[in-house]
Amino acid sequence: MGFADRFPHLAKASVFLAAILILYTLAQKLVQFRSRAALKQATGAQSARHYPQWDRVYGFDMFRDAMTAFREHRMLRRSTERFQISGLSTYEIVVLGRSMVMTQEPQNLKVIQALEHKKWGLGERRKTSFKPLLGDGIFTNDGADWAHSREMLRPNFVRSQVGDVKTFERHVAHLLSKLPKDGSTVNLADYFFRLTMDSATEFLFGESTDSLTRDSEEGFAAAFNRSQEFIAMRARFGFWVRWFPFLFGESDSTKDQEFVHKFVDYYVEKGCAKRDQMRGQKQSEEKSDRYIFIDELVSQTNDRTRIRSELLNILLAGRDTTASLLTNVWWTLSKRPDLWAKIQAEVATLDGAHPTFEQLKELKFVRALLNESLRLYPVVPQNSRQAQEDTTLPVGGGPDGTSPLFVPKGQVVGWTVYGMHRRQDFYGADAEEFRPERWLDDPATGKKGLRPGWEYLPFNGGARICLGQQFALTEASYTTVRLCQAFSGIESRDPVDVWQESIALTCVNLEGAKVGLTAR
Ligand code: HEM
Ligand SMILES: *[C@@H]1O[C@H](CO)[C@@H](O)[C@H](O)[C@H]1NC(C)=O
Ligand SMILES: *[C@@H]1O[C@H](CO)[C@@H](O)[C@H](O)[C@H]1NC(C)=O
Repeated sequence: MGFADRFPHLAKASVFLAAILILYTLAQKLVQFRSRAALKQATGAQSARHYPQWDRVYGFDMFRDAMTAFREHRMLRRSTERFQISGLSTYEIVVLGRSMVMTQEPQNLKVIQALEHKKWGLGERRKTSFKPLLGDGIFTNDGADWAHSREMLRPNFVRSQVGDVKTFERHVAHLLSKLPKDGSTVNLADYFFRLTMDSATEFLFGESTDSLTRDSEEGFAAAFNRSQEFIAMRARFGFWVRWFPFLFGESDSTKDQEFVHKFVDYYVEKGCAKRDQMRGQKQSEEKSDRYIFIDELVSQTNDRTRIRSELLNILLAGRDTTASLLTNVWWTLSKRPDLWAKIQAEVATLDGAHPTFEQLKELKFVRALLNESLRLYPVVPQNSRQAQEDTTLPVGGGPDGTSPLFVPKGQVVGWTVYGMHRRQDFYGADAEEFRPERWLDDPATGKKGLRPGWEYLPFNGGARICLGQQFALTEASYTTVRLCQAFSGIESRDPVDVWQESIALTCVNLEGAKVGLTAR
């Protein structure tokens, strides 16, 4: 006896339910179709042209292409070439069954990042890959949760003396004491990654890892390093890591993560205890003159997990980025005697004194050098957002890509700052050349220095613009100036003369910055 004979009512009911479900789905589709048609009608928006690929369903061709480019360290170059090959500055592409719209149009980025940022989210991939290590924080959340983080953290960045160069000096002094003075080869990258870890932990926790002066490969810096590599992999390979975690060393990574969490929790507890003790006392107790991020956070919330998460979010956002910038800058200096001479001349105006925050700002060539490095070698070279609702962007739709672009809910839109920063229509015929002078006013010709808008986005723009921009630029320029004061000569020890990308969470020259330095 079949199911329908035994339970006639149930069978009828399920047929009825199924019919309703189908009708409901159809009705929903119809409503969606009509509202999309209305949106397109009202705005003139159209879909993007497809990139010329043959496998538009699974996108295996583009996956292979991307993997080859990744292995050969020219993924960014490749994604820039695609705009040239297709002749489009916005196109749709399918990679491993996933559709992406790619754009390098400043107008579109302005809408996504500023004007209509609420319509755009980070996308699932970033959240699921980062959260196990970072938890809920400014870098992993969208919407109201993100807004709450941003509101809580931003004043601390403003209040903090991000220009507190005294703190940087302590770590830079460690750096200088460790660098060989006899001209033997050293990879500055190794030291820069330690420097930024040491200064960031001091700024955030009130106590530095001091990894420059400790030689051990154990402890927080190493564990954080490894955890971070793991999440970079998870972000890149997405579901493969989620389904086959053991292939990627998940269990070691869990141990590292626990270690990292415990380590930070210690400082959170300490911060809370200090706060409670201070509350017990009268205001007379003078505050320490050193700014400690955690002390501010504990006065805003008592949620210890949240505090830990925010601290780790900021550490992740701020550490490798600044170290990568320094590495790229120093790789360039080692390859360019002309720039070395210019920066030395500018630094000489300080007469050997440690620069103050105000003096740093006056060093225009140093700043132009950083600007130019972030233009050609942006340390966050590509990024993406996901549409939270049906919407449009100003350009990229239609056969010639000049109509507004229709973007359906759920669509991922990616952009490459690397490619945009090299567009000749914005930067001129010499866009590919490393020329800091382009940023400076030229008194001889009266030509004004470059003042770009949305076509220059090393720190993003709009609502989620980098909170640590000032911190990063101060640290990078202070370190650069002090190194110039300590060493009169530099020689590249890297046989490769072109900058090659190495992409993890940030982008840095593949070989780091291998140099020989002459002490003064
Ligand atoms: C050269 C160095 C740096 C570069 C190029 C850089 C770049 C960026 C970029 C592109 C974003 C946007 C990411 C996105 O929304 O998808 C960002 C966000 C952020 N950065 Fe930086 N960053 C640097 C250094 C720092 C430092 C030193 C700190 C902290 C001390 C920091 C803290 C943050 C935070 C908290 C966010 C998240 C802001 C938000 O989502 O509201 N960054 N950064
Ligand atoms: C962390 O990784 C960076 C880059 O891979 C490396 O230069 C640095 O020495 C590592 N630091 C520690 C403490 O392991
Ligand atoms: C560096 O770039 C920023 C952002 O575009 C700009 O405001 C600043 O004036 C530039 N400074 C120099 C010296 O190039």
